[in-house]
Amino acid sequence: AVILGVMVLTSYLLGSIPTGYWVAKHLRGIDIRDHGSGSTGATNVLRVVGKGAGLFTFVVDVLKGTVAVVAARWSLAQPWSTVPPAWGDYCLLAIALVAVVGHSKPIWLGWRGGKSVATSLGVLLALNWPTGLVTFGVFLVVLALSRIVSLGSILAALSLPLWFWWFTGSLPFVGFSILASAFVIWRHQSNIQRLIAGTEPRLGGRSGNSA
Ligand code: G3P
Repeated sequence: AVILGVMVLTSYLLGSIPTGYWVAKHLRGIDIRDHGSGSTGATNVLRVVGKGAGLFTFVVDVLKGTVAVVAARWSLAQPWSTVPPAWGDYCLLAIALVAVVGHSKPIWLGWRGGKSVATSLGVLLALNWPTGLVTFGVFLVVLALSRIVSLGSILAALSLPLWFWWFTGSLPFVGFSILASAFVIWRHQSNIQRLIAGTEPRLGGRSGNSA
């Protein structure tokens, strides 16, 4: 139980690394949460700071998720792991979910972080890369057609359980994906309101919204 606790904590710590916050603080001297959508995610860093900073935040936030899952999978396979093999998948998925939540709820920033999209992608690529790639593909197609990042994120999240079912046929993975997807969509409440109101900003359009 102690080792499992360490794995969960490590995953949370990885997920909660405040990349976007640091990047904006370092490059602009600002608290990114007072600008744009208020998110610490790559989209808002792109919007508020610029392309390179957004890309950097995206890559690091993806890696946080990937490393969390790879580290957990490695730990679970070690002889000192007390987790019975039959529980391995469940533990791995729970640890993956913790990294996803960590990105949105970092203790360092008063629990106000990003929306867990990039970190979820990183987790997905490590859990089952075909699922990760296809989900990212859905995101990219929607983004290309609409130029609205949040719409891409929401529709990709909605489609995720289907891809997990398709590629793994595993109920625990589908269950995980429903929880992760619900969490990511819940984090997009203000985006959904703006989408309905027709005020959600498009990429490359006039920047700046206030929620
Ligand atoms: O990845 C987050 C994206 O879906 C929305 O970000 O800053 O436009 O709320 P933002």
